Amino acid sequence: MAAPFPVIALERPALRVLDQSRLPHEEHWLTIGDLETLEEAIRSLRVRGAPLLGLCGAAGVAIAAERDPGEAAIREAAARIGRVRPTAVELATGAACCAAAVLGQAAEERAAAAWAFCAAYLARRQAEDEAIARNGLTVLPPGDVLTHCNTGTLATGGIGTALGVVRAAFAAGRLARCYVTETRPLLQGARLTTWELVKSGIPAVLLPDTAAAALAASGRVSAVVTGADRIALNGDTANKVGTLGLALAAAHAGVPFFIAAPVSTIDPGCADGSAIPIEFRSAEEVGGFGGQRWSPDGVDAWNPAFDVTPASLIAAIITERGVVRPPYGPGLQALVAHTPAG
Ligand code: MRU
Repeated sequence: MAAPFPVIALERPALRVLDQSRLPHEEHWLTIGDLETLEEAIRSLRVRGAPLLGLCGAAGVAIAAERDPGEAAIREAAARIGRVRPTAVELATGAACCAAAVLGQAAEERAAAAWAFCAAYLARRQAEDEAIARNGLTVLPPGDVLTHCNTGTLATGGIGTALGVVRAAFAAGRLARCYVTETRPLLQGARLTTWELVKSGIPAVLLPDTAAAALAASGRVSAVVTGADRIALNGDTANKVGTLGLALAAAHAGVPFFIAAPVSTIDPGCADGSAIPIEFRSAEEVGGFGGQRWSPDGVDAWNPAFDVTPASLIAAIITERGVVRPPYGPGLQALVAHTPAG
């Protein structure tokens, strides 16, 4: 199963990306040839999704190396890109791994080496998505699935993580439809996941975020599957805000809750979820959307972009290298201990 459509193109000396902030109304490609434009695209979620952010981090190093392949400039670019969004660990590690790989080369070869790193990174990601989907089929019970945010091609450049599992389950005749939360406030579910599913001919059912607990309790779904932005060594998992609520609702209803994510999402630097940095975003995102305001001026908002689901609510973590079951510590430790750098 190959990626069903392109979302990113490595066109040295620039990166081209499908602008996700304009979907589903407009399929507009951005050309990114400098770090400021890349930072803005990441901050505004024109490109988003943890694995794709990892590739963008690496591409930031390639873009910087075109201008100045000196060691200081490359290190500074990697650090700068890594800071734009704090929760998805792969943004910083994608940039840092690319920088480390090219700093071993002669200065005049670094830009080419960085673009080659990005191409290999994307190919590896696509293969990982397919392995996650295969492994997901070994644990996913038959029946319809609820997912959150967007974890598909738009988020990885491959078939997706949680959405890749959904794609594989649909292809195997194991589910008839995928339920999709709208994913307030930026509507990744309503705008992006539904768009991908419709494009792929997979029946999609959109629900308000507020209806998710009722859906889980209704018996209509046999599993909830989401992606992850960072997984602590004990299995606590940060993902799009609302994931914790879904996991609680699923536990209450006796529905298994799965995380599907590449091993690169596991952060050996986080012993548990309390160490995961959570991105907070502006009040404006909560009080309106797409140029329309619905809250009065002057109202404050509490707007975390992510939440942390405790390991105790997760039935299994599906990775490209196998399915990890509770207790997560030993299994996750083993995966990161045997991961080659880069
Ligand atoms: O703020 P976003 O849209 O970048 O958040 C994305 C998510 O939370 C995804 O679930 C996660 O990055 C996994 S994508 C395969």
